[in-house]
Amino acid sequence: MPYIPERYPRYKGYALPNFPVLTTDLLGHLDKIKNFDSRPSDIMICTYPKSGTNWIYEILTMVIKGCAEYATKNKGASMLEAIDDFRVLENVPENSTRIINSHLPLDDLPQKHIENGYKVVHVMRNPKDVAVSYYNYLASKKDRTTMEVALDFPISWPMFIDHFGRGDDQVYGGWFNYVKTLEKAKETGKLSNILTLHYEQLKRDPMPSLKALAEFLGVKASDELLEEINDKCSFEKMSTIGEEAKDNTKIKMMSITGKNFMFRKGQIGDWKNWFTVAQNEAFSQLIETHEGLKITIHL
Ligand code: A3P
Repeated sequence: MPYIPERYPRYKGYALPNFPVLTTDLLGHLDKIKNFDSRPSDIMICTYPKSGTNWIYEILTMVIKGCAEYATKNKGASMLEAIDDFRVLENVPENSTRIINSHLPLDDLPQKHIENGYKVVHVMRNPKDVAVSYYNYLASKKDRTTMEVALDFPISWPMFIDHFGRGDDQVYGGWFNYVKTLEKAKETGKLSNILTLHYEQLKRDPMPSLKALAEFLGVKASDELLEEINDKCSFEKMSTIGEEAKDNTKIKMMSITGKNFMFRKGQIGDWKNWFTVAQNEAFSQLIETHEGLKITIHL
């Protein structure tokens, strides 16, 4: 029996958030995404939800702009499965870099982007922390009244983590499926132009990741600029509405109820506060034995 309610859109057996465009025209919209007219200069952020998408979106925007100023648009404005009118992307002048993002599995992303080897930035995070972050995100839904874009189902932590681990009936097809597909595509060369960053490395020792990002993007960025970007994108600064960000629609939107639900703790290892010893053993075992999962997970 599916544990995510039937009212959520489903595609190829996986559940999707109930973004209006997906509930009204699921197949049409997914088809538009697959056939999206990608440009060589497009950069696509690919992440499983709760891996640090908002964080990397902000960093990437600053690196591309060459200055440490917050993006004026919400990442949601260029999230392929959430936007209902692609003209917002189509109308971007050809000489500007479009930073698009999606949580969709590889096969459902713009095929032109993949086939032509345009740039992909992938952020990976310890799945234990992803699970905790996701669970809390879903649980915080009840505090939000104006956003109907997340899955809201009454669910206990033990049930959530059990399903998350097994990967059945998961949003976007589940974490394991998501990373395994990307990993395989890297191995086979289907994804030829991808940079994988790790949430944990970005948090513990940001500069090497930031330098790798600038190099991957082909941007000359001084250490001073990268330090400044790192400072502006710290969890503390991004999660508080500072003077500088007070006109920032993105941060305003995320604080609809005064509670910044996109920025919860921003820590490595919060899973230790959630997993029982037995749950941790079972999950670690799952990571080790997962067929085809050879990636390094930073703990
Ligand atoms: P937690 O729930 O563990 O705090 P996404 O943007 O993909 O939805 O990911 C959300 C997670 O990234 C949340 O994790 C959020 O707090 C964390 N995050 C957001 N901005 C961050 C930052 N600047 N530094 C570290 N973590 C950040």
